[in-house]
Amino acid sequence: MSDIATLDPRRIRELFDLRSDVYANRGGGFDLDFYPELHRLRETGPVHAGVVGPLVGYHGEAFFQGLPFPDLPHFSVFDFATCQDVLRDGDTFGSKPTAPGPELDLSDSVMLYFDGDRHRRYRALVQSSFVPKRGAWWSERWIESTVQGLIDTFERNGRADLNVEFCAPIPLLTICGSFGIGVADALRVREAATSDGGDRALLASILMPIISERRKEPRDDIISVLVRAEVADGDGPREVLSDVDILGFALLLLAAGSGTTWKQMGITLLALLRHPRWLEAVRADRTLLRPAIEESLRWMPTDPMFTRYALRDTELGGVAIPARSVVHLCFAAANRDPARWERPDEFDPSRPPGAHLGFGGGPHICLGMHVARAEIHTAIDALLDRLPGLRLDEDAEAPQIIGMYERGPTSVPVVWDTP
Ligand code: HEM
Repeated sequence: MSDIATLDPRRIRELFDLRSDVYANRGGGFDLDFYPELHRLRETGPVHAGVVGPLVGYHGEAFFQGLPFPDLPHFSVFDFATCQDVLRDGDTFGSKPTAPGPELDLSDSVMLYFDGDRHRRYRALVQSSFVPKRGAWWSERWIESTVQGLIDTFERNGRADLNVEFCAPIPLLTICGSFGIGVADALRVREAATSDGGDRALLASILMPIISERRKEPRDDIISVLVRAEVADGDGPREVLSDVDILGFALLLLAAGSGTTWKQMGITLLALLRHPRWLEAVRADRTLLRPAIEESLRWMPTDPMFTRYALRDTELGGVAIPARSVVHLCFAAANRDPARWERPDEFDPSRPPGAHLGFGGGPHICLGMHVARAEIHTAIDALLDRLPGLRLDEDAEAPQIIGMYERGPTSVPVVWDTP
């Protein structure tokens, strides 16, 4: 991908800076370590009335994830077992909001908010493109060339902020590539995906020409999978997806694909750089990289909470939950539940493997998790191969992991040995 060098680093920094306006109403600038508070809350009960942010001392605005429904009762769940129970009980807890708001506006076209059979039918349309055996397709077609192309741009410099120069563009270019969108339009896609609720007009202006081309002549990409997909609503006849359906899918995949992995990659890199013992161990034995990535997803998931809505009166952890309540599942807290993990605050890739909630769970478990894992793995593997002596840049401003509803590093400043 030779045009990688044409990406504008200033614009990347604007679009991928948690402290910028882009992330203002996702609590991007929140810079406290909320884990001690999460422990304190869990210790006094698995379920609390209220929303995670205010419960840990964040009172800023939030646009998404069930947060803006002031008239509904809100509850937050802090332990692993209760989070699992909610994720698995789709009859009691749905994903479709129970009140009007920005998410309800999207809930007719974005499968994150679909429930039951409809969710299963729509997810099945794209599932086969995201299973582990498609890993080579993602790696060889998109990820490997992006990773190597980016390292080419800074390899001789001896220092870089990997957050902006590396972590941010990899998932963006991967998901855009898989939709037939070139490097030149990738940052505009990110712009469309980050505006509140998604800028459908901007996205449509980029995607509609590709959709109509692929309707005529399908290629080996995700947009061709979508234009050929047929779905029936209820018992009705099977029909190809409308342009609106395709745009809904595209918005979700482009936003989720470009907006999460870069932060988790940064968190994993920082965790390794700050634990040189683990960095050296992974450098010497690459089979340790996979457990290090899983441990980062447990230890500090970039998406610390997601939402469900109570479909009937129920009870959780001894707390009565009225129908229509918003139930916030705090994956960050669940992933450090001492009932499940010893020394939960420690980043320890050698701990026995065990399912975590970094990618959620139940029917909505992250569709892109194998792609995300492949991106982070390919990226760190290549850095360790190509940048000898890679280490934290002690002269740069110390990086911090920040954010309330989306978490990631402020920077990943590194140096390495150059000839
Ligand atoms: C480390 C990176 C990632 C993390 C931590 C992450 C996390 C999550 C979580 C927690 C959910 C569950 C939401 C819920 O239960 O309501 C989810 C869903 C989803 N993710 Fe990811 N994700 C990541 C990367 C990706 C990538 C790369 C893609 C696409 C290529 C993607 C596509 C999706 C989609 C489409 C859903 C909705 C699935 C459904 O509703 O059935 N994610 N993700």
